[in-house]
Amino acid sequence: MTGPVRIRVAVAAAYDVVIAPGLLDELPAVLPPFTHARRAALVSASGISALYAERVTAGLRARGLAVEPVLVPDGEEAKSLATVAGVYHRLAAMPLGRDDLIVALGGGVVGDLAGFAAATWNRGVAVVQLPTTLLAQVDAAIGGKTGVNLAEGKNLVGAFHQPLAVVADIATLASLPARELRAGLGEAVKYGFIADPAVLDLLERDPVAAVAGEPELLTEVVRRGVAVKARIVAADEREAGQRALLNYGHTFGHAFEVLAGYGTYRHGEAVALGMVAAARLGERLGVSEPGLAQRTVAVLAPLGLPTGGLRLDPAAVWDVLGRDKKARGGVRFVLCPTPGQGCVVDQPDRRLVEDVLRSLA
Ligand SMILES: NC(=O)c1ccc[n+]([C@@H]2O[C@H](COP(=O)([O-])OP(=O)(O)OC[C@H]3O[C@@H](n4cnc5c(N)ncnc54)[C@H](O)[C@@H]3O)[C@@H](O)[C@H]2O)c1
Ligand SMILES: [Zn+2]
Repeated sequence: MTGPVRIRVAVAAAYDVVIAPGLLDELPAVLPPFTHARRAALVSASGISALYAERVTAGLRARGLAVEPVLVPDGEEAKSLATVAGVYHRLAAMPLGRDDLIVALGGGVVGDLAGFAAATWNRGVAVVQLPTTLLAQVDAAIGGKTGVNLAEGKNLVGAFHQPLAVVADIATLASLPARELRAGLGEAVKYGFIADPAVLDLLERDPVAAVAGEPELLTEVVRRGVAVKARIVAADEREAGQRALLNYGHTFGHAFEVLAGYGTYRHGEAVALGMVAAARLGERLGVSEPGLAQRTVAVLAPLGLPTGGLRLDPAAVWDVLGRDKKARGGVRFVLCPTPGQGCVVDQPDRRLVEDVLRSLA
């Protein structure tokens, strides 16, 4: 048997992302040494906790840690300062010391929230990420961005705090609702366009297996996606430049999420539609090779991801694009010249963008 895949994220405090089906049963062997930790706060939402916390608890105990479960509510609304405050009170009651550990078991919501608690508790304690959604395994759990939402907007409060380790058990994806899995595939497709076209080939060759959650295929998709993210994060830990490429499909996608109302599209679905828009914009600007938009639709549609049917006013989308927090002196888009390459384009013509949006109706 070959061992799990290990990918190093070479930031200042480097760590490994370990990827394979069944890893939650192998935590004692897979986790790195914790120097002085005695206690672990296991942060999770109740549904996920019921499925997986027992095995995680056993693994952490086998490494000599006392495990304290901390349950948070499920869903994006729970990614709030109020929830974090509740977590802090639990940590205070334990008490969780500076050398102790927070373990995040769940999707991107739990990972962002528990990561933020870890970044701020006692001015920073170690966090281990155990992502259980495809989106979290391929994206959210890696790279050290943590945070919570405010009523005024998503992810407005946060910190960079790299994890001690990320363990992605592909077998946990078997219990993921089909729509969540497809949304995660949308996020994975992004890596195919900006850096590694093999991701596109894999998904095009067998979309049925991908949507069915075939573990070998998902392991390969996660491995390739994480490798891209690890490389980009290591080159640009604090998002000063290159890391912007990870926003492929996201400038449009965020605007679609905001205007359609959060909850209409899953994040990965909005990104899918955003990649179709970015490809069409790229083609019209002469930045992307002809046929890129068609290829984008050909990859996404068989995965059950949206590639049209957008019912939003182009002028309203333009207004939201201008407010994007990543906009510096004008609207900035990540475009794809050819699969495997990304580039940044500033301030394309408004009429061109609105034309592209109309083409998505
Ligand atoms: N930090 C980053 O770099 C980064 C990157 C991308 C996204 N994010 C954040 O990630 C969040 C979205 O994450 P998400 O898509 O994982 O959503 P999520 O965490 O809300 O999970 C989706 C749903 O699936 C359930 N679930 C999770 N794992 C499961 C499993 N194995 N089996 C059954 N059900 C399971 C959850 O309880 C939830 O109801 C957003 O808040 C976004 O801002 C962060
Ligand atoms: Zn995303």
